[in-house]
Amino acid sequence: MCGIVGYLGQKQALPFLLSGLERLEYRGYDSAGVCLQENQQLRIVKRKGPIKVLEADLQSLKFNSQLGIAHTRWATHGQPNEINAHPHYDCQHQIAVVHNGIIENFQALKQLLENEGHHLVSETDSEIIAHLIEKFYQGNLEEATLHALKLLEGTYGLAVISAQENKIIAARRGSPLILGIGHDEVFIASDVSAVVEYTKQVVYLKDGEIAVITPQGYQLQNIDGEDLQAQIEEIKWTVDQIEKDGFKHFMLKEIFEQPQTIANVLRGRLFSDQIKLSLHFNPRKVKKIIITACGTSWHSSLIGKYLIEKIAHLPVEVDYASEFRYREHLINPDDLLVVISQSGETADTLGALRAIPASETLGIINIVGSTISREVKSGIYLHAGPEIGVASTKAFTSQVASLILLALYLNKERTGNLDLELVKNLEDISRQVQIVLDQAKQIKKISQSLLSAKNLLYLGRGINFPVALEGALKLKEVSYIHAEGYPAAEMKHGPIALIDQNMFVVFIVNHGPIFEKIISNMQEVKARGGKIIVICDLENDVLKKLADFIILVPSTSEELSPLINIIPLQLLAYYVADAKGINVDKPRNLAKSVTVE
Ligand code: AGP
Repeated sequence: MCGIVGYLGQKQALPFLLSGLERLEYRGYDSAGVCLQENQQLRIVKRKGPIKVLEADLQSLKFNSQLGIAHTRWATHGQPNEINAHPHYDCQHQIAVVHNGIIENFQALKQLLENEGHHLVSETDSEIIAHLIEKFYQGNLEEATLHALKLLEGTYGLAVISAQENKIIAARRGSPLILGIGHDEVFIASDVSAVVEYTKQVVYLKDGEIAVITPQGYQLQNIDGEDLQAQIEEIKWTVDQIEKDGFKHFMLKEIFEQPQTIANVLRGRLFSDQIKLSLHFNPRKVKKIIITACGTSWHSSLIGKYLIEKIAHLPVEVDYASEFRYREHLINPDDLLVVISQSGETADTLGALRAIPASETLGIINIVGSTISREVKSGIYLHAGPEIGVASTKAFTSQVASLILLALYLNKERTGNLDLELVKNLEDISRQVQIVLDQAKQIKKISQSLLSAKNLLYLGRGINFPVALEGALKLKEVSYIHAEGYPAAEMKHGPIALIDQNMFVVFIVNHGPIFEKIISNMQEVKARGGKIIVICDLENDVLKKLADFIILVPSTSEELSPLINIIPLQLLAYYVADAKGINVDKPRNLAKSVTVE
């Protein structure tokens, strides 16, 4: 998944291109490049490595151009290197393209082009787009581009410029692309974070649309070249929402935003006597719910199962989107398909949504205007603001809060009942999350003991088993230490063989009927020399004897406990990674939104 920017206007293009790439760097950052049109020529500069390498080299070059495109890459085809970096030229260096997505038939098209004498230099699928446009180019860039797009199979968000024409062509199918509408200038970007400091007026391109941008403005067209009406939307995010505002990393900022972001989910939806969700299906007709997602969103889906089955007494199936989309599925007309995705662009989740013929679909999404948010029939927006850190934190708790509201809503609409104690505790949850955040210093101290750890086990029961999975994923993602989440009782069915004096086991437990059961799990670990960290809302002498570290958290309804129990695990992962000197916001090999399959 990559980041694309483009500029055409009255000012110099390069400053926006570079600032836009920096904003998009979380989308992929193994190489970057710019292309500027100057004196009827195209000049490309591209470098392997993060954007600052490109910026340093550009310092010594002079440009005078008001038209350009740029790209930051997360490799899908071909090694991260200068040749494979975008933008890509055609043979005559008269056309340049930047692309995000995967061209599935690029080998066949590459063969066709080479048979016609084209000389392609990179290993990428994207380069063939520049040569296809060259093949059809007869002086009109949009016409040539439309011809080329019709031959492409797969996904693209792309921008094209030529040496001779004062225009940019932008096109979208399956990879996000927006236009930023300024005063006498138009910006192109993969998402709003790149343009928000320049304009709040944006147009979200839909799949199959292209935009022709000229000094006179912009025109949307469909793949047949027919004009379309653009819908301008106002960005609600401000620049300071994007800035780290004093935190060392976006991930830490986003962990500390959670009291606010959880409150954002509840605002206007949670009331003492009702739950207000504007959903377009009849809750009384729903017989079964299927939830599908990837990664952290799959973990919140598992919590959703506990919540909906316990609160709304509806059966729930949860499946990885990458599995669900290819599996034989038994969808009934009265089933509700729920897709959860922070980005709203995850290819496997989008693929599952498109592959499953559910009559009713509901998206729990963060990014307004994202593809999935446009293709579901109903939606619950997280309103969490941009989540820049690659490791998802605030989106996870906002997803869980949304699922709590959905479960309460379904039960209220189907039975007229509303669990008032749960509502009251939900109203208090942001305050309790803040109490845990106030322990950050102690949690940071505990994290120092994990720096040399090689493997960890995270154990939880019931609704806290998915919390164990999510805590383990956080540590893996940002600190590169292997960690595995497991149902606590399952430890004795194999993983206990791993326990020795080098193994740390993190237990997530709340007071209640299974508290004693977890104590015996801890005794099994202790007896084998394992070290124990406990996240719990109850402290007693037995626990104090067994645990090496106890992180005491506020007590709340069992259904709400994941919102609290995940916070120390997010902080632990963050502090271990930061102490190891890892770039926590951009961990190796990861991208913020996986728009490839
Ligand atoms: C979570 O920390 C990861 N970045 C990753 O697992 C992520 O949750 C997954 O790729 C799904 O992304 P989405 O929520 O945007 O669909």
